Amino acid sequence: MNTKQVFTIVVALIVFVCGLATVAEQFPDTPGPDGIRKGGTLFETEDAPQLADPVNADGKRVRAYPEQPPTIPHTIRDYQIDKNSNRCLECHNRIQTGVSGAPMISITHFMDRDFQVLADVAPRRYFCLQCHVPQTKAKSSVGNTFEDVDILLRKEKQSQGEQ
Ligand code: HEC
Ligand code: HEC
Repeated sequence: MNTKQVFTIVVALIVFVCGLATVAEQFPDTPGPDGIRKGGTLFETEDAPQLADPVNADGKRVRAYPEQPPTIPHTIRDYQIDKNSNRCLECHNRIQTGVSGAPMISITHFMDRDFQVLADVAPRRYFCLQCHVPQTKAKSSVGNTFEDVDILLRKEKQSQGEQ
């Protein structure tokens, strides 16, 4: 494709998109998609919902499946993680746990990709929030029908018993 053809296609696209926008503006009452963003029309800008309060409860949460990174049970507001400092490790690294009382990052966090155990946290596990997330008291915007494998197994056993 030469530059002229590319140019023509780009111009055609711009004209098409502008055209769509103009057509859409003729119908200001068009309802917004009734998905996560409930109510309102397509052209209405609603206020952002308030930030939900973080859950800050001590103790452990049951993991939904064995490999799940446990969710963070405490607030992490203003905890800094960058090249020079890692607030999480100030409590969760092996050497700190005696003082902090926090659970130690598990052995997998010391392994490089060849499963070699290093002396300190492996670089690929340095940015904790890639995998671990804090929880808020927000109402979930979509439903969830997840069932724990133990519940599924129990159900299966029950249905076999009935047969
Ligand atoms: C001031 C010390 C401290 C800091 C800083 C801290 N934690 Fe914790 N963390 C704890 C303690 C103590 C617990 C045990 C549960 C509790 O008492 O809240 C815990 C629990 C957890 C758990 C749950 C472990 C499990 O087995 O269920 C995760 C995950 C976690 N923290 C991740 C993080 C991450 C990620 C950061 C940084 C953003 C962080 N923590 C910063 C002290 C800390
Ligand atoms: C690549 C994903 C990943 C990253 C990054 C990561 N974790 Fe984890 N973490 C996991 C998984 C998966 C588990 C549960 C299985 C395991 O122990 O490997 C876990 C388990 C834990 C536990 C519970 C340990 C136990 O023995 O019960 C703590 C505490 C924890 N992580 C803290 C951290 C902290 C602090 C960081 C940042 C320095 C971090 N993790 C970075 C995936 C991750």
